[in-house]
Amino acid sequence: MPTKIAPSILSADFARLADEIAMCEAGGADMIHVDVMDGRFVPNLTFGAKVIDAVRRCTALPIDVHLMVVEPERYFDDFAKAGANVCTIHVEVSPHLDRQLARIKELGMQAGATLNPATPLVTLEEVARDLDLLLIMSVNPGFGGQRFLEYSVDKIARARRMLDAAGSRALLEVDGGITRDTILRCRRAGADTFVAGNAIFAAADPRAEIAALRNASLE
Ligand code: DX5
Ligand code: ZN
Repeated sequence: MPTKIAPSILSADFARLADEIAMCEAGGADMIHVDVMDGRFVPNLTFGAKVIDAVRRCTALPIDVHLMVVEPERYFDDFAKAGANVCTIHVEVSPHLDRQLARIKELGMQAGATLNPATPLVTLEEVARDLDLLLIMSVNPGFGGQRFLEYSVDKIARARRMLDAAGSRALLEVDGGITRDTILRCRRAGADTFVAGNAIFAAADPRAEIAALRNASLE
């Protein structure tokens, strides 16, 4: 599986969102990662369906929506209509994970599941074969620019084995603290898709940084 880079617009300049997304596209980004936060599951507020709709009108790239909200199922219809391609939910707020993933697919989106750093991987074991994407959080969700939690590398390796054992072809994505330094360890552990916010948007040349991250993952 080739490396995919998914810039997180959480670290973009929102006053210039269309330009920032065009820059990601020109830099070779594979998806646009959109962090939806509700101020309840995580201590921060971000965007809803209207912003996803705006992103949709700026790019042909897949939109990778990461829902950090309680009762995520309340928003599936709106996000599907707004043009989300991947919809990833947290197991901590998804007591009916099987049903929720099925609903995401029914609406024509790819179904992803993710866990906080302290949530064990075993909570996803029963649905591993149904996933289109498994996201390993390598920071506590809520903010961009945090330091990568090193113990995530072992969790990625175990997630890789779990997906392989289930015969799953899901993407294995990592989110939080991805830099030119951390990306290689994650790739070697078996991840293929990398979210990066701060590393891209705070770089002197954000466009070039996308290629630099991809190259760093291939060393
Ligand atoms: C964190 C978000 C991330 C965040 C990553 O809660 O889910 O997607 O934007 O940002 P960096 O790459 O700066 O850690
Ligand atoms: Zn995210």
